[in-house]
Amino acid sequence: MIVLEADNIVKVYGGVGGQCSTRALDGISFTIQKGEFVGIMGPSGSGKTTLLNILSGIDKPTIGHVYIAEKNISKMNKSEMAVFRRQQLGFVFQEFNLMDSLTLKENVMLPMVLDKKPTEYMEEKAKNVMTKFGIYDIANKYPYNISGGQQQRVAVSRAIVNNPSIILADEPTGNLDSKASKAIMECFENMNKEDSRTILVVTHDVFAASYCNRVIFIKDGKIDSEIVKKGDRKGFMDQVMNCVAVLGGDKGDL
Ligand SMILES: Nc1ncnc2c1ncn2[C@@H]1O[C@H](COP(=O)(O)OP(=O)(O)O)[C@@H](O)[C@H]1O
Ligand SMILES: [Mg+2]
Repeated sequence: MIVLEADNIVKVYGGVGGQCSTRALDGISFTIQKGEFVGIMGPSGSGKTTLLNILSGIDKPTIGHVYIAEKNISKMNKSEMAVFRRQQLGFVFQEFNLMDSLTLKENVMLPMVLDKKPTEYMEEKAKNVMTKFGIYDIANKYPYNISGGQQQRVAVSRAIVNNPSIILADEPTGNLDSKASKAIMECFENMNKEDSRTILVVTHDVFAASYCNRVIFIKDGKIDSEIVKKGDRKGFMDQVMNCVAVLGGDKGDL
């Protein structure tokens, strides 16, 4: 079953009033099946963030359509989009984006608060996900009192608490050290394997990408190539590294 479809996405920035225009995305098409764990890689400026913003409805494509759970999100108005995003999509960002004035548990419950769910239900759901990620014992702390790795696990808990059709992550390990990165990628791997959650991760990081089952490489706003994991993670990491080398730019630039 297809959960997400990008159909010929073109995004042009600028170009009005004699301004220069940038073709950030130049005809991107792909589909993601339910239960896939997909990575998107590409050099800086290749259009990764633009693509993720369009897939998540933050931004509209100049041409093309995005379908999520069989709905054409490019046709939704603002308020339809807000509800749809909250109920169908889970987001994880590089910057964690937690609210400092709320406890960790309240941060996790936030999407359900906005949907006006009963308190007991919210408490139960938050307890389940936070226990799963080993952060329930610190549920009453505030974001500024915990480590970056713990903050990101809170952000992942918040992203999945509403049971979204797809989890979208933009550089989720970008601000983490290697140990915390590994822990987060293992969280994603478990969610994917055990709960068949569909995950799409944009990343610079070859190590993070090696957890995915398929990696799509983009360059200059176009899909350049794609590889599918057949063997173990280590072998896949070598394959990812080779593609990165072919794609150009040094590793640090990806
Ligand atoms: N809001 C914007 N206005 C104009 N140009 C933009 C805007 N956002 C991104 N771009 C341009 O689009 C291209 C792709 O950017 P981006 O999606 O951020 O790439 P990446 O995330 O892969 O580094 C770049 O050339 C960038 O300068
Ligand atoms: Mg980016």
